[in-house]
Amino acid sequence: MPKLFSPIQIKNVTLKNRIVMSPMCMYSSVNKDGMLTPFHYTHYVSRAVGQVGLIMIEATGVLPEGRISEQDLGIWSDEHIEGFKQLNEQIHSYGAKAGIQLAHAGRKSEVNSLPIYAPSPISFSENYKEPLEMMKEDIKHTIQAFQQAAKRAKEANFDIIEIHGAHGYLVNEFLSPLTNKRTDEYGVNKEGRFLFLQEIIQAVKSEWDGPLFVRVSTDEYDEQGNSLEDILYFTNRLKELGVDLIDCSSGGVVPNRVPTFPGYQVRRAEIIKHEIDIATGAVGLITSGLQAEEILQNNRSDLIFIGRALLRNPYWAKACADELKTNLEAPVPYERGWK
Ligand code: FNR
Repeated sequence: MPKLFSPIQIKNVTLKNRIVMSPMCMYSSVNKDGMLTPFHYTHYVSRAVGQVGLIMIEATGVLPEGRISEQDLGIWSDEHIEGFKQLNEQIHSYGAKAGIQLAHAGRKSEVNSLPIYAPSPISFSENYKEPLEMMKEDIKHTIQAFQQAAKRAKEANFDIIEIHGAHGYLVNEFLSPLTNKRTDEYGVNKEGRFLFLQEIIQAVKSEWDGPLFVRVSTDEYDEQGNSLEDILYFTNRLKELGVDLIDCSSGGVVPNRVPTFPGYQVRRAEIIKHEIDIATGAVGLITSGLQAEEILQNNRSDLIFIGRALLRNPYWAKACADELKTNLEAPVPYERGWK
C-alpha cells in the first residue's frame, strides 16, 4: 500500500491516511459573526466524502479582533460550538477526522470595526491599520481566549487542534525579531519571543489532551528575521511542551516575496523532523500522488497538507489513488462510480 494511504496514529487519534486538507480561510461567514454558513458544510464535508484523512478547518478567530477578515469563522463565544459540532458529526460520518486552526491575526487583521493588536506598534504595510502595542493585560486576555477556544473545540468534538503560529499573524509576530521590538519578558531574545506561544500552549493543554499541532513559518526570507537555528530552537521547545506535530509553512511576516516551486517548503519539514525528532507536516505546491509519496517514503514528513489542489478537486485523494494504482475505499453511496 502506498504510504500516502497508510494510517497514522497521533496520540489517541488515528487518521485513515496521510492526506490533510490544509487550513484555508473561505471568507464566507457572511453575517460577520464568525458563524458557519451552509457553504462551510458543503465545502468541508465534500472533502470528507472525497476521502481526505484530516480536515483542518480554516483559521478561526479566538477573538473578534483576531479575525483576518470580518467574514472569518470564530470560536470566541459558546454560541459558536453548536455549528462546529454539527459539522464534525458530518465529517466523522465519512471516516475523516476534524481539526481546527485556532488563530489570532494580530497586526494583519483587516477587521475595520475594532482596534487591532500586535507585540509592537508597527503596521504590516501602509495598507494596514497601525496596531496597538499589547499591554500585559492584553497578552493575558489573548492567552485566555486561546484556552477558552480549546475548551469549546473539545465540546464541539474536534479531534485535533492546530495553533496558527505562522504567516505573520499574532503568534508569529511575537516569535519574529522583525515584528517584536518589546523590551519586557515577551521580547529581547528568542527565549523572550517564544514566551507568548509557550503560555498559549500551556493554557490550551490545560483544557485539551488530544493531538496538538503548531503551524510555523519556518523561513521568513529576511536576513534580519528568524534564522533556521532560531526555528530549530522554537520547534525543540514546542516538542518539550508536548506539541505533537509541526506544520511547516513559511513567509508572511513582512511583505516580501516567497520564492515558490514544487514542494518549496518540504526541505524545512524534513530538517525539523530529523533535527528535532518530531512529526512534521509538509505543505506547499504538493499537487500529485507521486510527489506526496516521495516525501513520505523518503521520510521527509509524516503528513501531507494539501491546499489549492483540494480547492480545485475535492476528489484529489481518489486521483492520487488512481495515480499510485491502489484501491481507495469508496464513500458509501459512490461504489458504482468509483472504480
Ligand atoms: C490559505 N492558507 C492558509 N494557511 C493557514 O495557515 N490558515 C489559513 O486560514 C489559510 N488560508 C488560506 C486561504 C486560501 C484561499 C489559500 C489558497 C491558502 C495557506 C494554505 O493552508 C497552504 O499552506 C498554502 O496554500 C500552500 O499550500 P498549497 O495550496 O500549495 O497546497
